[in-house]
Amino acid sequence: MSRTRIHNLSISLDGFGAGEGQSLETPMGHAGERLHEWMFATGFGASLIGAESGSEGVDDAMARRHEEGIGAEIMGANKFGPPGWQDDPEWRGWWGETPPFHTPTFVLTHRPWPPLEMAGGTTFHFLDAGPAQALEVAREAAGGLDVRIGGGASVARDFIAAGLVDDIHVVVVPIVLGRGSRLWDGLEAIERDYDVEAVSTASGVIHLTMTRR
Ligand SMILES: NC(=O)c1ccc[n+]([C@@H]2O[C@H](COP(=O)([O-])OP(=O)(O)OC[C@H]3O[C@@H](n4cnc5c(N)ncnc54)[C@H](OP(=O)(O)O)[C@@H]3O)[C@@H](O)[C@H]2O)c1
Repeated sequence: MSRTRIHNLSISLDGFGAGEGQSLETPMGHAGERLHEWMFATGFGASLIGAESGSEGVDDAMARRHEEGIGAEIMGANKFGPPGWQDDPEWRGWWGETPPFHTPTFVLTHRPWPPLEMAGGTTFHFLDAGPAQALEVAREAAGGLDVRIGGGASVARDFIAAGLVDDIHVVVVPIVLGRGSRLWDGLEAIERDYDVEAVSTASGVIHLTMTRR
């Protein structure tokens, strides 16, 4: 059975998945790169940014689970581009001509575009649909493999709230952002639906895994 999974979703101690003020110059708002420093220090993260090498410990092992058995991704409009990207016909996402998804990738937006076929197996499809309907479409495209909910925090929150996510991997980063895009709002007592495990690592982050009961 195809599962719906969240991986490497990095949040501050106060639960923000991005800072305030997202823009072309500051994709993560005032959070800058701080939420993902742990990941770019790993071998997995290094391969994403073309760096030569990275760590091979627990952070790396956890980060690599992002890739295993995934047949499609769903992401929010604010992950795909800065505010207003829908008005720029040249916009092709943050990731260059070969995005690191390598599967059909569904971008939720109220202003959908025709599909964008990129190199390396990624095609961006733009969908104006609720979580359940979007998941149905992505599952069909995933051909029996799992569907990753790629974030940001508000799309992750919507899918969790709708009871659609089987596996959640959240990385708690020891910074306090104070403002931005929140993950946990409205998800009171969500932990009761999941078996929860936590591992802290030498980099200072905590990997929380939540597996639906
Ligand atoms: N911390 C992490 O690990 C992580 C992971 C991924 C991304 N990010 C960062 O998080 C930020 C984006 O997160 P976010 O929470 O601001 O936004 P988001 O979840 O990426 O996108 C939210 C937007 O998606 C569209 N949308 C959502 N649900 C929809 C639906 N059912 N139907 C149609 N459109 C829908 C709406 O945009 P429109 O109304 O404009 O169409 C909505 O404002 C970026 O800075 C990104 O780089 C962080």
